[in-house]
Amino acid sequence: MNRTYRIDDGRQTLVLAARNDRLPEVVYWGASLPEAEDLNTLHAAHVIDVTGGMLDQNPDLSLSPEASRSFPGQPGLIVRDTDGTPLLPKFCFEDATQTATFLYLSYWDPQNRLGLKFAFRSDPQTHVITCQTEFEADRPMHLHWLAAPVLPAPQQSDEMIDVSGRWCGEFQLSRTAWSAGMRYRENRTGRTGHEHFPGLIVPCRGATNTEGEAYAFHYGWSGGHRMIAEELQDGRRQIQWGHAARMEIEPATQFKTAPLYIVYSDTGLNGCAVSFQRHLRDRIVTWPKPDAPRPVHYNCWEAVYFDHRIPELQDIADRAAALGAERFVLDDGWFGNRDDDTRSLSDWTVDPRKYPDGLTPLINHVHRRGMTFGIWFEPEMINEDSDIHRAHPDWVLGSEDQTLGRQQKALNMALPEVREYLYDRMSAILRDNEIDYIKWDHNRVLPMPDASQTRGSYALIDRLRAAFPLVEIETCASGGGRIDFGILERTQRVWLSDSNDALERLRIQHDAALFLPLSVTGSHVGPRQCHTSGRTLDMSFRAWVAAQRHMGFEMDPRELNESETAILTEVTRWWKDNRHWMQTADILRLDSPDPAVIAEQQLARAKDRFVVFAGKAATSAQIAPRPLRLTGLDPAATYRIVLTNRNTLHHLSRGTTALKTDALELSGAYLMRHGVTLPWSFPERMWVLEGARL
Ligand code: DGJ
Repeated sequence: MNRTYRIDDGRQTLVLAARNDRLPEVVYWGASLPEAEDLNTLHAAHVIDVTGGMLDQNPDLSLSPEASRSFPGQPGLIVRDTDGTPLLPKFCFEDATQTATFLYLSYWDPQNRLGLKFAFRSDPQTHVITCQTEFEADRPMHLHWLAAPVLPAPQQSDEMIDVSGRWCGEFQLSRTAWSAGMRYRENRTGRTGHEHFPGLIVPCRGATNTEGEAYAFHYGWSGGHRMIAEELQDGRRQIQWGHAARMEIEPATQFKTAPLYIVYSDTGLNGCAVSFQRHLRDRIVTWPKPDAPRPVHYNCWEAVYFDHRIPELQDIADRAAALGAERFVLDDGWFGNRDDDTRSLSDWTVDPRKYPDGLTPLINHVHRRGMTFGIWFEPEMINEDSDIHRAHPDWVLGSEDQTLGRQQKALNMALPEVREYLYDRMSAILRDNEIDYIKWDHNRVLPMPDASQTRGSYALIDRLRAAFPLVEIETCASGGGRIDFGILERTQRVWLSDSNDALERLRIQHDAALFLPLSVTGSHVGPRQCHTSGRTLDMSFRAWVAAQRHMGFEMDPRELNESETAILTEVTRWWKDNRHWMQTADILRLDSPDPAVIAEQQLARAKDRFVVFAGKAATSAQIAPRPLRLTGLDPAATYRIVLTNRNTLHHLSRGTTALKTDALELSGAYLMRHGVTLPWSFPERMWVLEGARL
C-alpha cells in the first residue's frame, strides 16, 4: 500500500509518497499541480530505472535517508546508543495528521525503539513552507547528525548559490556547479557567522533575478549549521540541513532541528527573495509596535568609540536630531571601566567616571530632542579583566587557556546562574532608565559549537522580551555575524555589516535582500572617509545607500559641511516621506545589463508605486548607460516615472536623455521589455527613480 500526501499553497505543490510503511520521499516539488492529479500514478511515474552496477531497486531518497536501506549518500540521522554503539535505524509508519496548512508524520523504529517525526507548515500568503524534524528515544542517545526534512534538488539546475562572507564583507554569493559528490558547508563557529549565512538557492537553468525557476532554503538557527548538497551516482540530488554535527554535547531522549524554510519560485530569484522577505517581516519578527514607522537611527560608535563625554554626546545628539534622527543609540563604552576593548565586558553597571549621575541626564537630553534612547550590550561575553571574571572564572565557556577573540571569552549561557546574573543586570538598566532599544552584540566565535549555548542565549532574550515587551533588539555580531530567522524571532533589526562604506554596503545589502526585507536591515551613513575601508565617498551616495534600507547615521555629525548637511537632511526627509510604503515593499533585484550597476526596485505591496535604486559601483566598460529593465509591473498599465535626484546631474552629462528634465509616462511593457535609459554619471553615484501607476 502506498501513502501519499500533498501540500499546496497556491503557488507550489509538494508531494510526499511512501511505499508501504517506509519513510516518504518528496516525489514532486514545484509549480502547483492540478487538484485532480493522481498521486499514486505520480509516485509510480517518479521511479527511476535500474541497470548494470545498480541495486535491484533504488534506495529511497526519503525525508531522512536510511543507511539501513542501502542509501548510498549522507543519511538523515546518525545516532549512537547510550553506551556509544552506533545504531542503524529503520523507521516504519506510525501516524499522520493533516490540515489545510499543516502535515505531521510520525515513524517508529521498533527494533531500536526510536521515533522520528516530520512537521510541514505551509503559508498561502508568503509561500514559504516551514519544516522540521524531531527525534526521540526511550533512553538517552548521543546525536551526531539530525537533518531537517530532506528535499531533492532539481535536475534542471546546473549550479547552486550559497552564501559566505567575512567581517565587513557579508553575504557573498558563491556559485558551485553540480557534480558527483557533496558540497558540504559546516559552520563550527557556534554562531551564525559572517562566513556561513545558512541560505541556499538552487536556480534552474536560465533563471535570473527576475525570470525562471528557483528553489531556496534557509535554516533558522543561530548556533552554526551544516548544509549538504549531494549528487548521487544515479544523478539524484539531495539537500540536507541541520545543526553543525555533534553540537548536542549531552546525551538526551529528544532532539529537534531548527525550522527549515523552503520556497519554490517561478519568478526567478526574486520570487524566493520576496517570499523570505515577507515571511520574515510578517510571520517571524514580532514587532513591539507593528504599525509604527521605522525610526531613523543615530549610532555614536564611529563618532566617539570608547571616549564618552556627556557634553560631546549631547552636542552630537542635537546635530543628529537636526538631521532627522529619531532614535539615539549609545554604543559600547558606557559601563564598567570600558576605555578600550580589553576590559569590563560582563560588568554591566554604568561607569560613574563617565556618567556621574547615571545615564538619566543624557537620556533626558536625547528625549528633549525628540529621540528615543537605545543602548549597547554584549551579554554573552566576558573579559578576563572584569569583576565578574575575577569572581566567577567558572562561568566561562571553554578552557582557561583558550585563544581569546577581541580579547574576550564567552560566558557559558547554558548555566542558569549566568543567565540569572545577566537578566538581573540588564533588567536593572532597562528598569532604571527610559530605554526602548538594545543593540545586542556578539563579537567572537565560540571556543566550540554547543547547541545549549544557543538555547541559553535564546532563553535570556525571551525572558527579557517578556519583561520588557516594548524594547526592540538589534542583532549584531561584529556586523552581520548573527543573522538568521532563529535570532530574528526575537529581534527586530540586523546590523548587516560593520562596513559603513556605501560602495561595499550597496553590494552587501543587494545580496542580503535575497533573504532580508528593508524593515529589519539597518544601514547607516558613515564618515566621509570610511573607517573600515579608507575610502572617501560623496554624501549623496552615502545617504542614498542608507536610504535603501532601515536608515540611520553613524558618522560624527560635527564633520559635516554645509552641503553634506543639506544633502543628508533632504535624503532623510525623502526617506521619512516614503517609509510608510517602503517598509512593507518587496525588494526586487534587477538584472542589470551593465555589471558596474547594482540595481533594485522596491515595489509597493499594492504594486501602485515603486522606487528604483541604480547604484554605479564602478566605471562601466561602455560610455553610455545601458537601459535598465524593470520588473513586476502590469504590462498594460501606464506609469509616471521621475528621476528623484536629477539635481545631482554632473555638467559632463551633456545629452538630452529625457529623464534629465521631464517626468515620463510609459507602459509597464516598455519599462520591463526595453527598460529605463538613465543619464550618464560618475561611478560611486546612485540614481533614484520613482514611479507611480496612473
Ligand atoms: C562591533 C559592532 O559591530 C560595532 O557596530 C560596535 O557596536 C562595536 N562592536 C562595539 O564594540
